Amino acid sequence: MNAYLSGLRCTLCGALYGIGDARTCTCPADGGNLDAVYDYAAISRDIDPRLIAASPDRSVWHYAPLLPAIPADRTLPTPLASFGWSPLYRAPRLESTLGVRTIWLKDDTRLPSSSFKDRASSMVIARAQELGAPIICAASTGNAASSLVTLCSGTALRMVIFVPQSTPEGKLAQILIHGARVYAVEGSYDDAFELAMQASRAFGWYNRNTGVNAWTREGKKTAAYEICEQLAAGEGEGKRAETPAAFRAPDVVVVPVGDGNIISGLHKGFKDLYALGWTSQVPRFVGVTASLAPALYKAWQSGGERLQTMPSSTIASGISVDLPRDGVMALRAVRETGGIFVEASDEEMLDAMGILARDTGIFVEPASAAACVGLAKARQLGAIAPGDEVVLQMTGSGLKDVRSALAAVAGRIRRIQGRLEEIEN
Ligand SMILES: Cc1ncc(COP(=O)(O)O)c(C=O)c1O
Ligand SMILES: [Zn+2]
Repeated sequence: MNAYLSGLRCTLCGALYGIGDARTCTCPADGGNLDAVYDYAAISRDIDPRLIAASPDRSVWHYAPLLPAIPADRTLPTPLASFGWSPLYRAPRLESTLGVRTIWLKDDTRLPSSSFKDRASSMVIARAQELGAPIICAASTGNAASSLVTLCSGTALRMVIFVPQSTPEGKLAQILIHGARVYAVEGSYDDAFELAMQASRAFGWYNRNTGVNAWTREGKKTAAYEICEQLAAGEGEGKRAETPAAFRAPDVVVVPVGDGNIISGLHKGFKDLYALGWTSQVPRFVGVTASLAPALYKAWQSGGERLQTMPSSTIASGISVDLPRDGVMALRAVRETGGIFVEASDEEMLDAMGILARDTGIFVEPASAAACVGLAKARQLGAIAPGDEVVLQMTGSGLKDVRSALAAVAGRIRRIQGRLEEIEN
């Protein structure tokens, strides 16, 4: 365990708990999610950020001083031990159509299971290994589970997965092929979530459910570290920056939001670097929810932190949640940074899948395309200025949900018998 990790703080009442060997991670007093606390003064005293940046290890584990746990065997180049450092691409076409100085795409479709969730799963697996847990379970809209089973493969951990029956086939295929036991629940993601909570309590399984397991946020923050390190290194611009800084934060980050754990993790990552004095700003956050998953957006409009269960029915499986499980932290990520929430309709997400594919070369699933919708809306609303440097977080590959991709291009296929005249005509 990381010696700089000093405890877990309740995100609702602020009570501080020890790390112990806690298997369920919510606050016993009020059920609030817990957040890992580090001794930033000691880290900043002991660790030179330039040494982190100079490390030849390009996996997420080169941030070990800032992470709660590392996997049991880091020496072999397995997906678990060596993933990270997803590409940061420039998007010149989007820049000119939207009138924004700089737009970057952080492409986490390129992680081992083709989604951002590998960042969270890796940290949870490292923790399960520390605890010697034999079985790990998770509820998922698809990606959290497909990533968990991808990275568990080859380890001693056994996996039990709960998904709603509406989970796209690509994600389901991933989960099954890696050998997990899968329960496809008749009901929503939220039903699967509750069942996974009950099962982990009843059978002693280690639970990866998003948000209630504090280690998911810890894994997700690594994307913020990478973005800042890549920006400082001038990556994607074909040169290393001349400034000696190891990390540099952008002005705005745009993130699709379901449970709110990705945005919460990114926020934490940027705050960490700022608290350590390694960057000079925390970016503003644009959180993008689905219009057909309204709970978080309603809470944002209300100005408070009370989240109410509201039925979701969006095609964007990754952000189709009735009750956002890390919603309070998502609200804080946006409010504390002077950002904004916007909504994306299903049609807008399908449209944005095509825009991203044609203009940037990245093929994403609808939930991920929501970021592109949010970027355009935030620009229109003036929440993104022409001079801003913006990062769009890409979260899941389009190959996971081919049905949605085909819906996005419906009618564009030209069926012919195979004669040249048909093409001439
Ligand atoms: C592709 C994709 N994008 C975004 C999200 C949203 O992440 P969170 O639920 O942490 O807000 C998910 C979650 O499953 C996802 O799969
Ligand atoms: Zn509490």
